[in-house]
Amino acid sequence: MGAFIVFGATGGIGRRAVAQLLGAGQDVIAIVRDPAKGTPLANAGVRVVTHDLQRDDIWRLARHLKDAQSVLFAAGVRYGAPLEQLRAVDRGGAVLPWPRPEK
Ligand SMILES: NC(=O)c1ccc[n+]([C@@H]2O[C@H](COP(=O)([O-])OP(=O)(O)OC[C@H]3O[C@@H](n4cnc5c(N)ncnc54)[C@H](OP(=O)(O)O)[C@@H]3O)[C@@H](O)[C@H]2O)c1
Repeated sequence: MGAFIVFGATGGIGRRAVAQLLGAGQDVIAIVRDPAKGTPLANAGVRVVTHDLQRDDIWRLARHLKDAQSVLFAAGVRYGAPLEQLRAVDRGGAVLPWPRPEK
């Protein structure tokens, strides 16, 4: 079975989702923008990939997405953030992982 990719794995929703997925025995790949925040996830057995949706090229993620069975997109900017951040993360990030690269 492929991995479960979680964007926003350090956030309120993402953290809970990762915990449930690990509890269900899933292979989890967490996409985090802050490597320090990824350390506890890595210690819990999650494959951590550092990626900032505002700054990094989505194609850096292609080889990880190839392993994916499913993608949960739970990244998002805080309410009131500038519109360009909202566009880059909430809208841009959500559509960028698709279509999945060919295996
Ligand atoms: N919680 C709710 O009840 C609820 C209800 C409806 C909709 N939503 C939406 O669902 C999404 C997640 O909600 P949440 O409550 O879990 O939000 P949250 O706690 O603020 O988590 C947001 C996540 O997105 C990540 N993120 C922000 N900017 C990023 C970037 N540039 N690159 C990569 N990752 C980035 C954050 O990383 P850092 O940890 O590094 O900041 C964090 O992991 C949001 O869009 C929210 O509006 C939430």
